[in-house]
Amino acid sequence: MPGLTSIRMTGDKLEIVNQLVLPHTTEYIEINSIEQAHDAIKSMKIRGAPAIASLASLALVFHLSQALELSPTPEYLASPEALQGHVTPILDFLYTARPTAVNLGAATRRLNKTLQSSLVSGKHARAIAEDLIAEGRLIADEDESRNRKMSKWGGDWLVEEDKRNGGSGEVLNVLTVCNTGSLATSGYGTALGLITYLHESSKLGKAYYTQTAPYHQGSRLTALELKALQIPSVMICDTMVGSLFQHHKIHAVAVGADRVARNGDTANKIGTYNAAVLAARHKIPFIVVAPISTVDLDVADGASIPIEHRPPLEACLVRGALYPPSFDSQGNKQQAQVMITPSDLDGIYNPSFDVTPAELITAIVTEKGVAVKKEGESTFDLSGIV
Ligand code: MRU
Repeated sequence: MPGLTSIRMTGDKLEIVNQLVLPHTTEYIEINSIEQAHDAIKSMKIRGAPAIASLASLALVFHLSQALELSPTPEYLASPEALQGHVTPILDFLYTARPTAVNLGAATRRLNKTLQSSLVSGKHARAIAEDLIAEGRLIADEDESRNRKMSKWGGDWLVEEDKRNGGSGEVLNVLTVCNTGSLATSGYGTALGLITYLHESSKLGKAYYTQTAPYHQGSRLTALELKALQIPSVMICDTMVGSLFQHHKIHAVAVGADRVARNGDTANKIGTYNAAVLAARHKIPFIVVAPISTVDLDVADGASIPIEHRPPLEACLVRGALYPPSFDSQGNKQQAQVMITPSDLDGIYNPSFDVTPAELITAIVTEKGVAVKKEGESTFDLSGIV
C-alpha cells in the first residue's frame, strides 16, 4: 500500500514511519544505529510484533553492511571470535526493547543461530557478516508473503464456518482490535490481512475496529489503513463491544497476537480479552491470526507470558491534531499531546497486553493453516504445527 509501509530500506538508508504522529503527519525517521532501533521500538515509534522483529533484523543488516564498507576495517571484522563478541551483545540488547512480542526474540534467536552455524563452518568474519545480512533481510522480506497465506487460510475458513453456522458465507462483518495491518508488519497484515482478503474476495460487509486506548492503534492506525484500502469500516470505542454485539450482526472477531503459548492462550493488545469474553457470550467465532514465529512452544500457557506494563504517563495522555485544525507554516496540521487526567493520580494500571485463554479462541490461523481444538477440549496443541 503506497505510503503506509512501516519500514523502508533503500540503498544505504533505513527508515521507519513514526507511528507516534500518525495519522495526521507522515514522518519518516532514519535509523542509523542499533541504539536508535532499540529506542524506536521501546518508545513505540514502530510497533506491532512482526514489524519490530523486522526492524531489529534490519538494524543489524544496516550496521554490518556499513561495517563491511568502512576503511579501515573495524576490529570486530578481524576474526570470527571478534565478530561473535560484537554481534551477540547487539542481539541481546535488541531483544530487551519490548518483552511480550516473541517475534523479536524469535528473530534475534534466528540471527544468533546463523552466527553459530557460520562460525562452526569455519568461515572468515566477512563471510559470517554477509550470512547475517542475508538472514536479516530474509526475516523482514518473508513477512508479507506469509501474511497473505494466513489471511487466505483464515478468510476461507471463516466463510465456511459461517456456512456451518447456518449463514450464507457472504457479507461478513468482522471486528478487530488494535492495528495488525501493514504498519504492524512488513506488509498486508495478519488480522487486518484477513479482513483485506475478505474485502478483495467480495465477502466483507464491514470491518469494525476498537479505538484501542491508550495508544489508540485502532483510531489512529487501523482507521488510516482501512481508509487507504477503501474498506468499508466503523470505529467503536473500546467500551462499546458489548453494545455492538447486542445490536449488530458481527460474524467474527479477528485479532493478531504478540505471543501464543503452546496450549493456545494468546497475549495480544489490552482489550482483546474483553472482546473474547463478549464474543463467547454472543457465540461469535474468535480468531487469532499470527505467524508461526509468534507461537512460543517454550511457554506452556498464558500464565508464563511476560506482560509489558507501559509508563503510567502514557495512560494519561492522548495524542492527535488540534481541533478545529490549525496549520504550521508548511501547511502541516499542528499536533498536540493532552493530559486527560488530573496530574497527580494515586495509581495507574497500564498493562499493554492481556491474555485470552484458549478456551475462548475458536481458531488459530498461521501460514501453515487453521488450528482448531479437538472435540470436547478447551485448549490447543500447537506443538504439531511449529
Ligand atoms: O503495543 P503494540 O502496538 O506493539 O501491540 C500490537 C498488537 O498487540 C498487535 O495485535 C500484535 O502485535 C500483532 S501485529 C500483526
